[in-house]
Amino acid sequence: KVIILDFGSQYTQLIARRTRESGVYSEIHPCNIGINELKALQPSAIILSGGPASVSSPDSPGIDPCIFEWGLPILGICYGMQLMAHMLGGKVAPSLDREYGRSDLYFEGQCPLWNTVSEAEKLTVWMSHGDHVLAVPPGFSVTAKTQNIEIAAMADVSRKMYALQFHPEVAHTEQGDEILRNFLFHVADLKSVWTMSSFVDSMLQALPEQIGDDKVVCGLSGGIDSTVVAVLLNKAIGKNLHCIFVDNGLLRAGEGDEVIGYLRQHFDLNLHYIKAQDKFLSRLEGLDDPEQKRKIIGYTFIEVFEEEAKKIPGVKYLAQGTLYPDVIESISFKGPSAVIKSHHNVGGLPEKMDFALVEPLRELFKDEVRKVAQELGLPDFIVWRHPFPGPGLAIRVIGEITDERLEILRQADKIVQHELMASNWYYKVWQGFAVLLPLKTVGVMGDERTYEHVIALRIVDSIDAMTADWSRIPTEILGRMSSRIINEVKGVNRVVYDISSKPPSTIEWE
Ligand code: XMP
Repeated sequence: KVIILDFGSQYTQLIARRTRESGVYSEIHPCNIGINELKALQPSAIILSGGPASVSSPDSPGIDPCIFEWGLPILGICYGMQLMAHMLGGKVAPSLDREYGRSDLYFEGQCPLWNTVSEAEKLTVWMSHGDHVLAVPPGFSVTAKTQNIEIAAMADVSRKMYALQFHPEVAHTEQGDEILRNFLFHVADLKSVWTMSSFVDSMLQALPEQIGDDKVVCGLSGGIDSTVVAVLLNKAIGKNLHCIFVDNGLLRAGEGDEVIGYLRQHFDLNLHYIKAQDKFLSRLEGLDDPEQKRKIIGYTFIEVFEEEAKKIPGVKYLAQGTLYPDVIESISFKGPSAVIKSHHNVGGLPEKMDFALVEPLRELFKDEVRKVAQELGLPDFIVWRHPFPGPGLAIRVIGEITDERLEILRQADKIVQHELMASNWYYKVWQGFAVLLPLKTVGVMGDERTYEHVIALRIVDSIDAMTADWSRIPTEILGRMSSRIINEVKGVNRVVYDISSKPPSTIEWE
């Protein structure tokens, strides 16, 4: 495996995803990991990520120098390159300006990293740095330059050390994948063996070994992560798995039910279907603060789940759909970032519950989970299901939640889902849904003045929900959604399209 040492770059996860896409398993660890801990991981190669620091500042992060004497292939990217230059006897020029964006890269001499890069005079590469290397360390030679800097890449072929000032992991870098693959396959001599079918095979072996004859509970939300956990465990341990699905009264039409219906039909699951609408809705009565709504829904879910789990005798484990980005977040080198919304995944059950954890997806990125779902034979509408927030429609009915307002939103949202599916745009966008606004506006119907609700359509493109942009969905489809909602949903006389990006907006309205 490849170990990526993280210096806090926003692209570190991309490096991991790119290596895995090439079939090489990689893990991210903080740059200040102890050398013994690192050795215990038995890496075949090391990649040093980028990062916001400058090697010239006294508190800049470094690594144990023994890493350079170990003899492993090393690739330094951006800050990683500067750190190599700094620690191995080269020179780094501090800079106040940042070079950010595309640059033209010109190769200098031979380098195994350029091996299979198709012949071109120059490559467009993505830069994001302040400092740059001014003199290479002894043993190194310059392997590329750009119009702005003389040393844009360097290598010491005999020690298998390579460094790039640009970001090969970013899609804007031409043939960046090829450069990374050259490092993995030609320099580090790794094999492409990380596939989701091998992952499923190894899980079907490991899970029964871990769990034995004990019982496991699992919260099923209808989303892809918990569904994959349930199906994987169902295959691994059969009837010892108990799935709990909680209907909180805040589901969209068909949310959950469609997935649950499918699982019931195709898998012999132990399913506990809990109808807890009244409990949730009565506790939310009269509230309009989003964070308060989230909190109440969060602890009510835990209460309901716990009550049901206690009824099942002899449960030892709780299965959760924790993914790798959550794991990285928890061991991250950076300090905690500000809480913008207190996200509460349905899987996020508290430590106080007296269960040991089973987290079969904790090594995987989201795109890998989708591949596992396909491997397990799940249909497209589950594999590519849009994310749906744990607090559900409670944060899409802006303001107070009443049965009437929930029903209006449900009907409008059903039309949005239907039109997205019918036009196949459902599979092209990250998320699409309706939001009910807390205001009424004037309209005219026949000869009558109306004074009714407004629905906002929120349809966005995104890779990981961290950033997003509004989808440029054809106006005919938007038009059809609008006229259907206004004609078919009683109490709505206006539909608007949200054209804000994240940041500065967020995907959800609350
Ligand atoms: P925002 O609104 O923060 O949303 O841009 C990013 C992604 O997270 C989902 N989301 C939530 N998911 N509990 C969840 O489980 C929440 O409270 C929550 N709030 C937002 C949102 O749907 C989007 O995919």
